[in-house]
Amino acid sequence: MISKDEFRRALGCFASGVTVITTKDASGHRHGITVSAFCSVSLAPPLILICIDKYTGSHHAFEENECFAVNILREDQQYYSDRFASHLDDKFDGIAFDENADGIPVLKDVLVNLECRRVNAHDNGDHTIFVGEIERATVTDGNPLVYSQGNYHQLRN
Ligand SMILES: Cc1cc2nc3c(=O)[nH]c(=O)nc-3n(C[C@H](O)[C@H](O)[C@H](O)COP(=O)(O)O)c2cc1C
Repeated sequence: MISKDEFRRALGCFASGVTVITTKDASGHRHGITVSAFCSVSLAPPLILICIDKYTGSHHAFEENECFAVNILREDQQYYSDRFASHLDDKFDGIAFDENADGIPVLKDVLVNLECRRVNAHDNGDHTIFVGEIERATVTDGNPLVYSQGNYHQLRN
């Protein structure tokens, strides 16, 4: 078995975009968590997956609420990534968002919003894979924020 450091060094070489996944728990508290472990699963039906650490403060919210939104960040939104990866009392303070018909906070002015409904959850190691069906997608112009080897990057055109 490889060590945690070897795992981080190897997997850090994979470049990804950066998302903020948002939802609300059963008590109505808003949650948002920075997630790079996001990818497409299926075209028909339109499915995506996110991997959420079981030990984060938001994990329970994704079990309690079947609805969540994937907010894909644009290249100048590192601030959003840092904020939603922190342990602030109210991560949404000062952040522009709307609530959709399911009551889920959907961030404004990001590159893409995907409004999803959970169709499956898979327990794997210290993370849960939540598979969601995309019910609504909003796409705007711009470039994605990129994360690799522990740093943020912008695409060179
Ligand atoms: C670039 C970046 C990518 C991250 N990707 C993930 C991820 O894929 N899954 C995850 O559970 N946490 C990920 N994290 C860590 C969470 O954002 C962090 O633990 C956050 O504080 C959890 O919030 P919570 O404690 O309010 O749930 C990432 C953090 C950063 C900065």
